[in-house]
Amino acid sequence: MLSPHILHFDTLPSTNLEAARRAAEGAAEGLCVVAGEQTAGRGRRERHWISPLGAGLYFSIILRPQFDQSRWPLLTLMAAVAAHDALLAGCSLATDIKWPNDILVAEKKLCGILAETAETPAGRAVVIGIGINLTQSAFPPELEMIATSVETATGSTPELTSILEALVPELAAHYDVLNKPDGAAEIIRLWCARSSYCEGKRICVIDGSETLVGTTRGLERDGALRVETDDGEIQVLRAGDVSSVRPH
Ligand code: BTN
Repeated sequence: MLSPHILHFDTLPSTNLEAARRAAEGAAEGLCVVAGEQTAGRGRRERHWISPLGAGLYFSIILRPQFDQSRWPLLTLMAAVAAHDALLAGCSLATDIKWPNDILVAEKKLCGILAETAETPAGRAVVIGIGINLTQSAFPPELEMIATSVETATGSTPELTSILEALVPELAAHYDVLNKPDGAAEIIRLWCARSSYCEGKRICVIDGSETLVGTTRGLERDGALRVETDDGEIQVLRAGDVSSVRPH
């Protein structure tokens, strides 16, 4: 059973970097790092995660999974399920999960998740970073169209503490599920139950110079996304930026 311990900082370059540094120094699984602001917040695909003071929850947790690394992609799906359930429990906000792990409201991104590995004396660790937009007054104009916040989605000022107090136990509980013998299948089932992207969603996927349009057909056992193209072929995706497209 994971026993989380939370360290709070006013400001950090990145909670993921701080968690990775502590993991390399031997910090135990379950150590959580929270910052009031990040000066060099990291997003997926080397993007910057804008992290102004007080406008978001900037959170990372160290995990030291003992199961085979082929199943590690399921950690990000597990974290998405936990973030989804924490938003429901912590601020009564119903959200959608876009594959693999973006949390959306009305197709706009409210929360992003970045899993990174860290080499440590006790073996390879995983740092899961979660960024939740609480308010959006400091969003640059280019984000207004594609991102949202808890404040906008609920119409009230969010309590960071309520969301954090929901997030940590949700992560602990769902990580325990994933560690069970049938945990992988259960996490995929929980993910699909919370995501409109699991089955029958018309999507476009961009991965580098490759673009694919098709309809989602569930997840593989390792969390990869099955997409049926218009010629009826099933493609299995393990990377890429997904967006929804209008059905034709
Ligand atoms: C994404 O691009 O969708 C992932 C964004 C992850 C942002 C969070 S904020 C807390 C943690 N620290 C970081 O530097 N990044 C993650």
